Amino acid sequence: MPLQDNMKRVLILGSSGKMGSAVRTAFEGDYELICKNSLDFDACNFEEVGNLVKDNRPEIVINTVAFLGIDRCEKEPEKALLLNALYPRLLAELSRETGFLLVHFSTDAVFDDEKRDYYVESDIPAPVNIYGFTKYGGDCFISAIAGTYYIFRISVLFGETGRDSQFVEKMLRRVREGCRVLRISDDIVSSPSYSLDIAMGIKRVLDASAPYGVYHMANEGKASLYDLMAEMKKCLELDVEIQRASHREFPSGARKNTYTPIRSEKISPLRPWRDAVKDFCLGLEKIMKRKTA
Ligand SMILES: NC(=O)c1ccc[n+]([C@@H]2O[C@H](COP(=O)([O-])OP(=O)(O)OC[C@H]3O[C@@H](n4cnc5c(N)ncnc54)[C@H](OP(=O)(O)O)[C@@H]3O)[C@@H](O)[C@H]2O)c1
Repeated sequence: MPLQDNMKRVLILGSSGKMGSAVRTAFEGDYELICKNSLDFDACNFEEVGNLVKDNRPEIVINTVAFLGIDRCEKEPEKALLLNALYPRLLAELSRETGFLLVHFSTDAVFDDEKRDYYVESDIPAPVNIYGFTKYGGDCFISAIAGTYYIFRISVLFGETGRDSQFVEKMLRRVREGCRVLRISDDIVSSPSYSLDIAMGIKRVLDASAPYGVYHMANEGKASLYDLMAEMKKCLELDVEIQRASHREFPSGARKNTYTPIRSEKISPLRPWRDAVKDFCLGLEKIMKRKTA
């Protein structure tokens, strides 16, 4: 599609990831997109990041780059601090210096499990592991330094992605490889969300010039990881038995977040998560059919 003169120039950092590719799909056509991933720059190299931003002169920077994985962050806390807190601080400084709007992603893992209800934007974070702690560090730096910013706190994602390092993709890979029984925690409860729904929701917030700040963005409802995979099994008609387990069965070096559903007190909720799973599975079936044709 040809670019129009009045299109805003958006630099997407981490455009090949789960959230980055959804953002790309949602924003394509209405914004001029410059897409970068780890093949183009290293977020640990601050000089490179600075040059990338200054050379491209974006009006908006959407950052999806982060150091993910609760266990990985416990094992490599310095890298977690660098990518989840200090790199966002650099983006916040660049935003202040050059004037772009910074859009950043945070996580429900900034909260503990004490509330036993949905966490909203006005709840005070209390991270229980290095991942949550470093992500919260990023939130603090951005809200203190960047003048114009949106931080979107999101929960466990499903959505199109080229890699299978995250929970849903790992489970689907195991089924593809012939595993016939999956034991999945029913005591880790969050707000499973479709990356494309989140990206469209974010575009609506930007298009509406909503007040800057922190937003919780999730498909409506809450579910355990067990509920999520049971719904996927139903929609994709997977030949696998899904058994209830406790997260304690799967040893981890970190304290896991076990009850962190989120909802917004500022914007209306996205559609219910089960409807979103159905749509995602329809898309997945089409991709599978194209691959096998
Ligand atoms: N996924 C979830 O369930 C979830 C839940 C809550 C919050 N979040 C938050 O949502 C955001 C996006 O997560 P995601 O699931 O989309 O992540 P992802 O799929 O792992 O994508 C990460 C992106 O960052 C790029 N990247 C990673 N390290 C880099 C580096 N050192 N330099 C440059 N680029 C680098 C990757 O590029 P390559 O493809 O080239 O490696 C990829 O494009 C993160 O802030 C995360 O904390 C995610």
